[in-house]
Amino acid sequence: MSQMNHQLISILDFGSQYTQLIARRLRELGVKTAIVRGDFPAEKIQENHAIGIVLSGGPSSVFEEGALQVDPEIFALDIPVLGICYGMQLMARYLGGRVAPSDSREYGLAELEIVADRSVVAGTPKHQSVWMSHGDHVGQTPDGFEVLARTEGTPIAAMFDPKRRFVGLQFHPEVKHTPNGEAMLECFLDMTGATRDWNPEAIRTELVEGLRNSVPEGRVICGVSGGVDSSVTAVLLREAIGDRLVPIFVDTGLLRKGERHAVETSFDHFGMHLDVVDASERFFSALEGESDPERKRKIIGHEFVEVFQSEAKRFSDASYLAQGTLYPDVIESSGVRGTAAVIKTHHNVGGLPARLGLKLVEPLRELFKDEVRRVGEALGLPHDFVWRHPFPGPGLGVRILGEITREQVSILQEADHIVLDEIRQAGLYEAIAQALCVLLPVRSVGVMGDARTYEQVLAVRAVTTTDFMTADWFRFPPEVLDRIARRVVNEVRGINRVVYDITSKPPGTIEWE
Ligand code: XMP
Repeated sequence: MSQMNHQLISILDFGSQYTQLIARRLRELGVKTAIVRGDFPAEKIQENHAIGIVLSGGPSSVFEEGALQVDPEIFALDIPVLGICYGMQLMARYLGGRVAPSDSREYGLAELEIVADRSVVAGTPKHQSVWMSHGDHVGQTPDGFEVLARTEGTPIAAMFDPKRRFVGLQFHPEVKHTPNGEAMLECFLDMTGATRDWNPEAIRTELVEGLRNSVPEGRVICGVSGGVDSSVTAVLLREAIGDRLVPIFVDTGLLRKGERHAVETSFDHFGMHLDVVDASERFFSALEGESDPERKRKIIGHEFVEVFQSEAKRFSDASYLAQGTLYPDVIESSGVRGTAAVIKTHHNVGGLPARLGLKLVEPLRELFKDEVRRVGEALGLPHDFVWRHPFPGPGLGVRILGEITREQVSILQEADHIVLDEIRQAGLYEAIAQALCVLLPVRSVGVMGDARTYEQVLAVRAVTTTDFMTADWFRFPPEVLDRIARRVVNEVRGINRVVYDITSKPPGTIEWE
């Protein structure tokens, strides 16, 4: 149940890879969005008081049997509708226009020519680039629509019905490759009369009020990892319910160098006492002799739950468990694409609330990560803390290939510390979405001084990404890589070679295990 009373745009998802991007763009422009399945009933959209609707693109053709259809009643709700790509074709089809099938796809940049300087394209250049990705296109507009723009291959690339405030765009205004896309989305928002009430301060206030109402009594246990999601969750709860919050930090022994101290100090600064549990011994002994990535993950997840469970039991009046679940996780498990295939067993406290008889509190479940960061800043968390790179729950456990021992952890900690230090000193930390080091269980020959060495290899990985679903490797200036390699080999005993991972995701994943 949402506690928020913001104006809302409903995004009907027909399976486009860009649906989340549409949601984020509109939110960046100050309006709350909710992604729902493409066939979401018009009645419910009305119940949610949506002020506008966006129909996303999709991988299907409207002619395909079983292609997800829209509830035609949405066109009778008397609110503006923006159809993008497949969404435009659905609009044309349901309103009496004609969609022309096509055997070939138009994909990539196209030149758009404005034929009527009106509506969402008003004031934009006569000739401009747009991002296309479609097969079919609208061959004839429905009654009441006028053509706004065309491309060489698509005679009706944008259309508009001024009376009903419906807009159809065959290209994607939400991607950066469409330079005037943002202005077009702005214009659509103007049509809806949006007051732009979605901003970090407002979100923060409403989340805190919402938590006060939804957690009227009892203690809330919150697992804090030092990452931004769980920290913002904890700070929001602290503001809402004060000492009824119990933030617990589990030291698995698989943390970065100095991480435990850094998190404790940060929480001190936030005026919160962190319940720190040193559980490293049990993690190392449970992991002894294990080299298989999935089994290591399972062991770490299992131990974590055990530790957490016994800690939570210390509080007899514990009633809730707080988690930093984000909107993309919620969409993934309820969207049209269904649950994504399990590539890796992600470690979280799933299943734990039921076992403990606790109710789940997830204050961030309507937010994207960049919004969580901005809310964090609105809560007064320091910039550096809020913009930290993510760090996975299993920690260095997924970055030591082969068996995990205390010695391997300490080698990796030292190397990782140097790499991050060099990245920071080069001023590149915020240009990179995530940087990490992986200790490889292979040895290679080297020479140091006059002696032969035979030591381990360190792989450095740094990626750029906005959603962590896809990622590109970061183009370091060569001199930074050079300094990293020199320092690691000189300063870390046990490593005599450094390599840089230049695999994008897909096909690689960000972590190595
Ligand atoms: P992959 O390796 O799947 O990682 O490309 C995508 C993002 O998820 C993080 N990650 C995890 N985070 N628990 C977490 O909390 C996990 O088990 C886990 N595994 C991967 C990874 O660091 C990257 O940011």
